[in-house]
Amino acid sequence: MREWSQKLRADGRSIGCVPTMGALHEGHLSLIRASARECDETIVTIFINPIQFGPNEDLTTYPRDEGSDLELAMGAGATAAYCPSVETMYQSDSSVYVVEEKLSKYLCGLSRPTHFRGVLTVVLKLFNATVPDRAYFGLKDYQQMLLMNRMVRDLDIPVEIIALPVIREPDGLAMSSRNRHLTKEQRKDAICLKNALDAATEAFQNGERTPRELEWIARTIIEQAGSARIDYISCCDAEDLSTLAKIDRPALLALAVYFRDTRLIDNTVLSPEKEGQ
Ligand code: PAF
Repeated sequence: MREWSQKLRADGRSIGCVPTMGALHEGHLSLIRASARECDETIVTIFINPIQFGPNEDLTTYPRDEGSDLELAMGAGATAAYCPSVETMYQSDSSVYVVEEKLSKYLCGLSRPTHFRGVLTVVLKLFNATVPDRAYFGLKDYQQMLLMNRMVRDLDIPVEIIALPVIREPDGLAMSSRNRHLTKEQRKDAICLKNALDAATEAFQNGERTPRELEWIARTIIEQAGSARIDYISCCDAEDLSTLAKIDRPALLALAVYFRDTRLIDNTVLSPEKEGQ
């Protein structure tokens, strides 16, 4: 993979990388299309990364569909797909990881303590293999995007991180590979995530500036959905994820909710500047 990329780079071609775990949906395709517009070559990586899953998480049931993924990726403008095996990616005795020590302590990092170590490690390895100029990530994984920016900044990695908006189903549910695990009833209930974000956003637009109040508004909506179990709802500083007493700078309202074993996340950014206040 690296030889091929390095040759392209030597020929003056720019490379965009779209790291994925497969089970591609419109969210991924929007990243591939953006890369195809902005870069000469687009490499989609498809690798279900075992080290970003905790012991009781959904590694074994994570959706896999390589045949259709390749077709979708190429249809959206990818020029290559890199689908390494676990053995190619990890030595049986590998012992070096990328660990971030601030941003990864919040939100998803609280309930998934080794998750971001796995994500950063694999993404750095994928960058080393594909040697991209730019890498594309979706804002549904807002915390992951912040961590990517922090990693390239702190480790001087010459890759530009491009963050693109959440892509949603017609009813507002954020697209996720995990949505395909939802039962009919859970799928109906799952719209509560977007409803909760919308209700809190409306309160914010009407002048509410207390993060705890906005979290409470979101919570009451999610609690009405029978199959939903809240992991976290947090309204925090959008830049460093720290606690906010009052929204006087951009805030992130982020949530993670289980529908039985399926854990979904969503978020929105609340910007006081945009409100003219
Ligand atoms: O966002 C994902 O799908 C994964 O965390 C990533 C970035 C592909 C790393 O495995």
